[in-house]
Amino acid sequence: MSSVPSPKNAASGGAPPLHRLLANASDAVQAVRDGHSLTDWLSRCPAEIRPGVQALSFTVLRRLGAAQAVRAAIAPKNPPPRVDALLLTALALLWPGESAYAEHTLVDQAVHAVRQRAPNSAGFVNAVLRRFLREREALVAAAQADPVARFNHPRWWQDRLRTDWPAAWEGLLQANQQKPPMTLRVNPAHDDLDGYLARLGEAGIAAHPAGALFPQAVVLDEPRPVQALPGFDDGHASVQDASAQLAAPLLLGQRPPQDLAPGEDWPVLGAGARVLDACAAPGGKTAHLQELAGNGLDLLALDADAKRLERVRQNLQRLRLEGAVRAADARDTAAWWDGRAFDAILLDAPCSASGIVRRHPDVRWLRRPDDIPALARIQSELLEALWPLLKPGGRLLYATCSVFRSEGQDQIDAFLQRHGDARSRQFDQGAGHLLPLADNARQDLAPGAAAVTDGFYYALLHKA
Ligand SMILES: C[S@@+](CC[C@H](N)C(=O)[O-])C[C@H]1O[C@@H](n2cnc3c(N)ncnc32)[C@H](O)[C@@H]1O
Repeated sequence: MSSVPSPKNAASGGAPPLHRLLANASDAVQAVRDGHSLTDWLSRCPAEIRPGVQALSFTVLRRLGAAQAVRAAIAPKNPPPRVDALLLTALALLWPGESAYAEHTLVDQAVHAVRQRAPNSAGFVNAVLRRFLREREALVAAAQADPVARFNHPRWWQDRLRTDWPAAWEGLLQANQQKPPMTLRVNPAHDDLDGYLARLGEAGIAAHPAGALFPQAVVLDEPRPVQALPGFDDGHASVQDASAQLAAPLLLGQRPPQDLAPGEDWPVLGAGARVLDACAAPGGKTAHLQELAGNGLDLLALDADAKRLERVRQNLQRLRLEGAVRAADARDTAAWWDGRAFDAILLDAPCSASGIVRRHPDVRWLRRPDDIPALARIQSELLEALWPLLKPGGRLLYATCSVFRSEGQDQIDAFLQRHGDARSRQFDQGAGHLLPLADNARQDLAPGAAAVTDGFYYALLHKA
């Protein structure tokens, strides 16, 4: 890995010039090509250009496979990385359907940006971009023959999806190219869904319910800064995808399983229940659990990443919720467990994030094929370490934001083989593999909703 180029820090008044946004977006793209997280890079980007750089870099990463193929077709010899990144940035933004800027403006500004960092390459960049514009139709058509250019995902990722989902793989790849909706979770301590929708309406923010399966979820027609949301600072709403909002009601028993035996009791866990959130940061689901239980859970939130845990504390504080927060590797139970068994455990395990590619367009380019078995091994170790900590009759909700079967159903099938005292409870909707497809029969979206949820996997394991 090379060092990460830092965002340029020069402060400027008014709207930032396009060449500055392009230069920074191309640095962000190059950081991803060098193996660094876009989220981390953007967190260090000066606030006045961050929204613009984010919008451009997201678009470019969604078109990176195509831009690389076209650049190689026009200029087969690799230019220096930073020049290449600028070229790829401009090519992706000149792709049909992506034209947020007039073509000649984009080319001029890209050449301006390259002149500032590699003056000798300005003529070359100008020539490549102008040739692309002249021959765009033919170059775009020719690129479709290369699967990486056509689907803008690495080949191994496509192969894995094709194996896991023979009928849906192409739809999944296309879904990853969409812009995700901004979805909120309404805090029941302050409002019901209709009440908060009314408040959004009064604030001039158009929104609709995500659907009956997600009783606290509203989808905004257009994303907004959180500060524009009524009562955000006072914890009246949180930003959370609808599929992530399934975890807390599943674990606490507010949605009972469909396979209850006659007379079987399925208590709703509330005040005093001892609950572990084993991989809690940044705390979206931790807060939801406590919100639904009226802040009465005896809740422990763990995470291996002490820095990310700060976000859990902030979320609980904003929402006026309680919970013990502790940095630990959940697998190392000897280091953190006090010996008191849990009524319920949420294991929202580290995973490939293959279900949230819409929100993190860098993920597909950062992952390597070997990462998937390595992550599956960690997930399995976490399951093994935490299962003994559950009371008899207790529940463990296993979750991943992945659409890969090895991190979902295969993982749980193998666990059930190893543990005769575990049973996976059945749900008609909102559990198992949730694919981020508009026509996913398992999803219950409001009619006409543009929203599809993120990809997720849930299994509720019940201890005999
Ligand atoms: C999918 S994220 C959790 C998201 C969180 N549950 C939420 O809803 O906001 C997975 C988390 O697992 C943490 N993690 C990874 N390995 C871990 C381990 N061995 N023990 C505890 N936490 C771990 C990561 O730091 C990361 O914050």
